[in-house]
Amino acid sequence: MRHLIDPLDFTVKELNDLLQLGEAIRRAPQDYSEVCKGKKLATLFYEPSTRTRLSFEAAMLNLGGSVLGFPSANVSSVSKGETVADTIRIVSCYADIAAMRHPLEGAPMRASRYSRIPVINAGDGGHQHPTQTLTDLLTIMTRHGRLDHLKVGFCGDLKYGRTVHSLVNALARYEGIEFVFISPDELKVPSHLIKNTVVPAGIPYTETADLEGSMGDLDVLYMTRIQRERFTDIEEYERLKNSYVLDTAKMALGKKDMAVLHPLPRVNEITIDVDDDPRAAYFEQAQNGVYVRMALIMTLLGLAPTGPLAERDLAEARSREIKGAPCKNHSCITVSEEGLVPLYAPDTHGVMRCVYCEHKMP
Ligand code: CP
Repeated sequence: MRHLIDPLDFTVKELNDLLQLGEAIRRAPQDYSEVCKGKKLATLFYEPSTRTRLSFEAAMLNLGGSVLGFPSANVSSVSKGETVADTIRIVSCYADIAAMRHPLEGAPMRASRYSRIPVINAGDGGHQHPTQTLTDLLTIMTRHGRLDHLKVGFCGDLKYGRTVHSLVNALARYEGIEFVFISPDELKVPSHLIKNTVVPAGIPYTETADLEGSMGDLDVLYMTRIQRERFTDIEEYERLKNSYVLDTAKMALGKKDMAVLHPLPRVNEITIDVDDDPRAAYFEQAQNGVYVRMALIMTLLGLAPTGPLAERDLAEARSREIKGAPCKNHSCITVSEEGLVPLYAPDTHGVMRCVYCEHKMP
């Protein structure tokens, strides 16, 4: 059985097949209206969501399946202290596939280790958001016809922006990619993402605070919200929240075929008059989220035209895991989940990292 916890859980071939299926669904969604008849999707959302939860539910309903779940932790037995491990064991009795969003990093990974059904990470803290990445990739494909040879600018909260982390990981596997990371100093992209992903892939990149000066040669501008809910110092949030506002004057500096993406929700980082610019792709991106999640559900249930995914042999990766002291990341699932022993494994540089949240071993 396969899960989607990290954007790299799929090979490039598997990813391309999935995006191709998403594109086919986009063109003729009615052709897939009975593919998941009799199947159930559980949406386990411990953190607020509009797009991800509703697009997952719409996706399963469009496929002829049904949906159950909870939209917040306080309406489930989580509020009585039930662990993620126990919750997924129970949900495995009721559903065929589950999508989980959780404020703690590594929670969907924890769930996948106890689950009898495929688990999809629908966003874990500031860590990863792989289904947003699928949405972003399908949108870039429809706008540019390719995922290679693109200059992609990321702007805003690159420290806490889990959609940025996941998309960087995914795009780094394609030829001819260049990255421009545009952020205030306090919200720079995590150094481990540069060291472990961008540099080993040989990708040219720049880090700057200057949006206007970066606009001119971008193929994709990926705007992000400053993530208020991730700040421990609210005064710092207030100081940084208006760091970047994309308006029509800045849009005038961009290429004619630049695509502006944003995972949404936006707060005020894109003014509403930009919505009328044909390069604004963010509402189309939200619509694509339904098609690509339809493709993902079909793929993980073994119902895609390409057949079931090959099983992964996890024994070798698991054999490199060692037990260690508690993780120092206060947002890691290991900090609160009862009975969860912290585990660490080497990254590509041999640095031991928490298998749940990727923070360095203390
Ligand atoms: N893009 C995204 O994850 O939106 P929601 O938080 O509304 O799901």
